[in-house]
Amino acid sequence: MQVTKSVYIVSGASYDLLGNVYAIRGERGVALVDSGESVAAPVIEASLARWGMDGLPVTHLFLTHGHMDHAGCAAYFQKKGAKIAVQEGDAHWLREGGFQADRTPYGEGWIYPPCEPDIVFREKQTLEFEEFRLKAYPLPGHTDGSTFYEMEDIRERTEDTPGRTILFTGDTFSFDRERDEDHIVLCWKGSPDYDPVRVRKSLEAACQMFSPDVILSGHGMPLLANGNEIIRAAARKFLDTYR
Ligand SMILES: [Fe+2]
Repeated sequence: MQVTKSVYIVSGASYDLLGNVYAIRGERGVALVDSGESVAAPVIEASLARWGMDGLPVTHLFLTHGHMDHAGCAAYFQKKGAKIAVQEGDAHWLREGGFQADRTPYGEGWIYPPCEPDIVFREKQTLEFEEFRLKAYPLPGHTDGSTFYEMEDIRERTEDTPGRTILFTGDTFSFDRERDEDHIVLCWKGSPDYDPVRVRKSLEAACQMFSPDVILSGHGMPLLANGNEIIRAAARKFLDTYR
């Protein structure tokens, strides 16, 4: 489904699968933000075809983190020519193929085909995809390498206004209007590298740094209004819940 002029949801909750996958449509190719579970590949391909992108190569995959429900199809798209980008703290998940059975109570359900990431960044960095610029902000806590990506949808520019600002938040917080009173779903705490102190710092930093028009989270639904309020609500909820 299309959420802005350049961005589509191509797998995830709307397709009865775990982990939202977003496609950015360029002129000559497609970039994905996250790739869902390893079983999501045919759904992603079918969605790209439905929206007329089957003739375009997937050239980039920007990962918000290395969990199975986000990096599950990284090896699949790398084999088809995509460059895989991930923050350094989570690169090892890709090399190892997720949680090995001895590191999690979830066993083999949390593993996926491994791959060697092509772009490993450590600090805030601008990653380019055709005419788009994705600013990658390492915001650890959910995992060591959790990252937000901020992007302007340049196709939404008018003479008077810039294009809408989109913030991809991964799992640090998700928005779901139909769940919980305040519509915020805080991140899963079960990762071996989960660190609540870092989540708090990351959410506080996010409140200072971002004023998005659109929030696209790792789970839940797209948020096309009130992005500023929702970021602050997420930080408040975290402080209230995990103090
Ligand atoms: Fe996650």
